[in-house]
Order: sequence, then structure tokens, then C-alpha cells
Amino acid sequence: MLDGKRILLIIGGGIAAYKSLDLIRRLREGRAQVRCVLTPAAKQFVTPLSVGTLSHERVYDDLFDLTAEHEIGHIRLARECDLVLVAPATADLLAKMALGLANDLASTVLLATDRPIFVAPAMNHVMWANAATQENVAKLAARGIAVLGPDAGELAEGEIGLGRMREPAALAASIAQHLAASAPLAGKRALVTSGPTYEPIDPVRYIANRSSGKQGHAIAVALASLGAETTLVSGPTRLVDPPGCHVVHIETAQEMLAASLASLPADIAVCAAAVADWRPAHAATSKLKKDGSTPHALELAENPDILATLAQNVARPRLVVGFAAETDNLLAHAAAKRVRKGCDWIVANDVSPATGTFGGDANTVHIVDATGTETWAPMSKKDVAARLAARIAKALA
Ligand code: CTP
Repeated sequence: MLDGKRILLIIGGGIAAYKSLDLIRRLREGRAQVRCVLTPAAKQFVTPLSVGTLSHERVYDDLFDLTAEHEIGHIRLARECDLVLVAPATADLLAKMALGLANDLASTVLLATDRPIFVAPAMNHVMWANAATQENVAKLAARGIAVLGPDAGELAEGEIGLGRMREPAALAASIAQHLAASAPLAGKRALVTSGPTYEPIDPVRYIANRSSGKQGHAIAVALASLGAETTLVSGPTRLVDPPGCHVVHIETAQEMLAASLASLPADIAVCAAAVADWRPAHAATSKLKKDGSTPHALELAENPDILATLAQNVARPRLVVGFAAETDNLLAHAAAKRVRKGCDWIVANDVSPATGTFGGDANTVHIVDATGTETWAPMSKKDVAARLAARIAKALA
């Protein structure tokens, strides 16, 4: 759920600032973009070099830095993000926020942002319990700022009490949860089929096709990043399991059908897999040997149609999307396929060898639905996935 999200992390000047380095790493592991602002005091605890190295982004620390102002400006810095996280939020920073001060880059950005703000307080337990801090925190909470922690435990100075900054893993999980709850497909379940299927001839040989699974995997990631609880049923590919999706690995079309049906009920089904239309009717249980006589003829049996089965199922997902990979008469075949299979949309693409679509990173697609055809300019498979997920979210809104 952090995938592709832009997080502005404001690091305050307390000993817990060292944990912000781990926090950056964890947010980035979830594939978030993390831009950091350091207060002058924070630089006493962590260096811009370590923050910049871990975040892979420029680090901002000076309101009056002419280069930074020229490149991005503090107002854009405050707005070009999905949320602002203050960790550690020191007593001083919380007080500034409560008062609305804007006398350095961090406080100015916090006053200028219109994005959700999360604070992770960290300080001595007596400072936390102080009426001034408690009043400030109550004011911030009343303004809708989410207060994460502090937690109880041993503090840096050796005292025990409430004041430890919440652990980075827990903070990253809270942020992911918030993003998931406010996402357009939150509460929706999605099923995506992807990759080729392998149909065994014998234990060592199989029939397969050239599908890389790139488009299907990218669609699963895009749906998950919009908040859908996503199951990806994947044939054998060279791709790593995408984060944020429940991945079921299968080999044959029959296994893909079983795994797809097991993932119902779902609100959305996108069948991007290149399912083998036929399988050897009688797969041998031991390796076939040449015996010098007549060549083997392979008897084939037709595989189940997963897309059609889902589209015509009693537990039919609200939106069923299929693909049409064609080498000729693309749009006519796609429109006929949509009706024949009973799905709502067909994403049609030309897979003639000259296009490089199969296995490649780019795709030119046409969306065929009941109202007609929409043609998208050539773009990366990731962009096709993002645009398709956004179209799905709009259709289900
Ligand atoms: N599909 C499926 N199960 C199958 C065959 C295809 O779910 N056994 C799905 C694909 O995932 C895709 C759509 O059906 O979403 C169309 O696949 P395609 O290979 O283009 O079409 P076919 O159904 O195989 O039809 P044809 O071979 O006649 O083009």
C-alpha cells in the first residue's frame, strides 16, 4: 500500500532521530518515495548525507536555501506528497505546530501543507506528561493530526516511562493502513491472472507460450496500490512476487482455474494470463522415449476458459476484464471475444512479433467495452496498468 506513495518525512531534533534512518529504509522497502526535511537540531543527531543516501532523494534543511527554493520551493515541498510524517516529533516541534509558528523549513512546511499529517512523538517522559505538551498534542489531535505513540519503555537517558518513539516497522504499518483505508479501491477484492501456463507432455516436457507476465503483474500491483485486496494467480514467470498482493503460483490452466475460483468472491477480475488453449490429453507419467518407430502425435484436449467461467459464474465479479492478444483484425476479434466470453471490457493488444509486446516493456492497447473502443497511446506496461486500475476504480465508484 506504500507503493508509489510520496511521503514527506520531517525529522525532529531528538535522540530518536537515529530511528528515522530505519524508518526511511522501511518506507522505501514498501516502495514509497521518501523526501526528508531535517530541523537544525535534527542535524546534531543524523547527517543529511546518511538521510540522503538512504532516501535516494535530495535532503531539505534550510528555508532560505536558494537552490532548493529554485528547484522545488517550500510550498511545493509541502504539497507534493501524499502525507507528512513527523518522526521524531519533539516537544519543541509539537509546540511550534500547535502555535502555528513558521520560523524554519520544517515548521513552515507543516503550516503550508494541505496533506494528512502524522506525528510520532519522542521525548523524556516528564516532558511528555507536562501540561504544555499534553495541551499541544490535544490541540493537534483536535485538528485531525494523527498522533502515533509515544510508547512506554526505557528512554535514552535511562529512565523508564512514556516517551519512546514508536518503532519504525509499526509506524510504517500505520501509514500503510491509513493509505489503504483512504484508497479508491479500499474494501474491494481483486483477482488477476498473469503469465503463461505450462501444460505437461511428460514429467520433463511441456507446451507453453512466450508470455512474460509483466502486464498482469503490473496490473496486480496497480490494483493493490489503489487499496484492493489483490490475489495474483500466476503461471511460471521470471518476475519476483509483487509486494502487497497475495500470490498463488500455478502451472497449468486447470490449476489456474481452480485457484481463480478459490479466490472468489471478488469485485474485480482481470484475466491477463496467456492461458494455453489446449493441453496434451494424456500427459505421460514417465519420460517419453524415442523408439525409432513413427513420430509421436500429440493428442490435445481443450483447456477450460477461465475468463468465460468467471464472467458466467454465479459469483461473478462486478467487473470482469479480459485481454485479447491478436495478430490480425484486432478490434473485430476483441469485440467478438468480449461478447462470446461475457466479460465487461476487453483490453486488446497487437502481439505480432514486430510490435515486441510479448515479453517487452511497452504496450499499445485499446479498451473495448459495451459503448465502443478507446485507444491509448503507446506506453509502458506499468502505465497501462496504472491507467487501467484508475479506470476500474472509476467504474466501481
Ligand atoms: N483466457 C482464459 N482462459 C483460457 C483462454 C483465454 O482465461 N483458456 C483469457 C485470457 O486470459 C484473455 C482472454 O481470455 O483474457 C483472451 O485470450 P486469448 O488468448 O486472446 O483468446 P482465446 O480465448 O484463446 O481465443 P482465440 O485463441 O480464439 O483467440
